[in-house]
Amino acid sequence: EKGGYDYFMLKEIAEQPKAVADTLLGRIDAAGTLSLDEVRIPGPVLREVDKVVIVACGTAYHAGLIAKYAIEHWTRIPCETELASEFRYRDPILGRRTLVIAISQSGETMDTLMALRHAREQGAKVLAICNTNGSTIPRESDAVLYTHAGPEVAVASTKAFLTQLVACYLVALYLGQVRGTKWGDEVRSVVRELSDIATQVDEVLETMEPVRELARSLADKGTVLFLGRHVGYPVALEGALKLKELAYMHAEGFAAGELKHGPIALIEEDLPVVVVVPSPRGRSVLHDKIVSNIQEIRARGARTIVIAERGDEAVRPYADHLIEIPATPVLLQPLVATVPLQVFACELATARGNEVDQPRNLAKSVTVE
Ligand code: F6R
Repeated sequence: EKGGYDYFMLKEIAEQPKAVADTLLGRIDAAGTLSLDEVRIPGPVLREVDKVVIVACGTAYHAGLIAKYAIEHWTRIPCETELASEFRYRDPILGRRTLVIAISQSGETMDTLMALRHAREQGAKVLAICNTNGSTIPRESDAVLYTHAGPEVAVASTKAFLTQLVACYLVALYLGQVRGTKWGDEVRSVVRELSDIATQVDEVLETMEPVRELARSLADKGTVLFLGRHVGYPVALEGALKLKELAYMHAEGFAAGELKHGPIALIEEDLPVVVVVPSPRGRSVLHDKIVSNIQEIRARGARTIVIAERGDEAVRPYADHLIEIPATPVLLQPLVATVPLQVFACELATARGNEVDQPRNLAKSVTVE
């Protein structure tokens, strides 16, 4: 049932191109426009929405953090992403015009369920993004957009995360389409870019041997730090979470701009620091800033592991290890940048003799608050 792989996690990492393609399937019509029939929240209600709130836990929360960038950029609706476990305890401001998006692979996460129940009691509309047909969260929501990752068995989430991202991008575009902040041509061009992602993930998967080798060489380290900016920041958080749960190592993700406000004090000789570099195109200011961050930490002895777009020559002189990923539009980069981090964590766990599919102390779905 592991399809020839040693672990479900390896199988699920390899299934990502298909999972991404399947999640797009049937949601784009012949003209290249979006038809999300499942989103049964009527157009007039969606046009009235004045705030989007995303609630989720763990890896799904990281997908939600990335979705915020896309939703605000494409729709100009203010969006906040909140840990489901914190949500209802701070008396959040919700109303009829709030759209709450609950993201959950299992559809059974109690924290997320309680958050969405609270949101509905306050009159908000809830859209679930979920991978499990007929589970509790979609049943209790106003509408659901299913991710088509197929069953995810390994405790650490991989393919579900990528499909959650795809679903979030689709919802963001759909909101833009319904509200007229995104025109047909723009929607079609992003949809085309999303359709290219499966092939690009495939390309990443084919070049992972150096990443595995690097991971094995770090098996006796105590700490690994992760840095990113913009949508690369949640990717850094996700890389750190994967390493914690699988390798049982101390791993932390930071926004690279925060380095100088404290975390740079952690940098010491030979400390591995993974840096997710934004595309040098488009947001080039951020790119240049992160290049100076890499220089700064390297000058203080860090061992820099740099994930950058292929052809990004500016980072090369400062990268002790360079992991190249295909060029994607700025907002979509997490779909390719996360994959090496999954492989990295999985290989480190194996090298440390850990149980990859069943990390200690964790359960696949957390049905208690
Ligand atoms: C991390 C992981 C967890 C889940 C979280 C939410 O690899 O698997 O952090 O992402 O428990 O689970 P769902 O998406 O089922 O609500």
